[in-house]
Amino acid sequence: TRTAAVIPAAGRGVRLGPGAPKALRALNGTPMLVHAVRAMARSRAVSLVVVVAPPDGAAEVRILLDDSALPETTEVRVVPGGETRQESVRLGLAALPEDIGVVLVHDAARPLVPVETVDAVAAAVRDGAPAVVPALPLADTVKEVRPREGGEPELVVGTPERAVLRAVQTPQGFDRGALVEAHEKVALQGEGATDDAGMVERLGVPVVVVPGHEEAFKVTRPLDLVLAEAVLARRRA
Ligand code: C5P
Repeated sequence: TRTAAVIPAAGRGVRLGPGAPKALRALNGTPMLVHAVRAMARSRAVSLVVVVAPPDGAAEVRILLDDSALPETTEVRVVPGGETRQESVRLGLAALPEDIGVVLVHDAARPLVPVETVDAVAAAVRDGAPAVVPALPLADTVKEVRPREGGEPELVVGTPERAVLRAVQTPQGFDRGALVEAHEKVALQGEGATDDAGMVERLGVPVVVVPGHEEAFKVTRPLDLVLAEAVLARRRA
């Protein structure tokens, strides 16, 4: 069976400041999404990439990718996304052909993930793990807080032990059946799931951790754009 990558790229990216949808913002002149598609296509495990575009931007994204000189060995499909990340991923899964058995879900907002990380995730799924996440230890201590009424500062309610916490990245890899089942059965409120493994966990499926990579960081705030361009400049040097 083949491996596909689904790239949710339908987010507006409000935390990055005003402007185009986040995935279409440029890093060193090339949209983040194009970097992300290339990062997936660089893995020999990946033969299909499904890009989930902003709902009103699928045609624009199709043209952008057609003009981006991507490797011809990788097929790229574009589908319109939804209101939440979870909905966007579900729409991407619906566009997969029958012969795809392994699915990598990768944020467009992590344009610089190295191929070694992509390969490691794909290999772990192919070796039998139903769900795999790349993750790194935390530098910061994390607190759980409780918001308070009337503009009072929030209160700390707990400090989980840092040594057992991990920051998880993408691509997250899945046995296709497990991920599709999670999307059919797991209903979440509000923002929905912030990652895909979280949904599969709720089915009781074990999720395996492989080492993440510093360069797989998520471009979320303006400073992340500065860091991403510095990483690209260092790669070219
Ligand atoms: O908002 P956040 O940074 O968690 O988004 C992670 C990824 O999910 C981004 O690549 C974003 O484009 C995507 N997303 C999406 N559809 C949404 C919201 C986010 O595809 N409705």
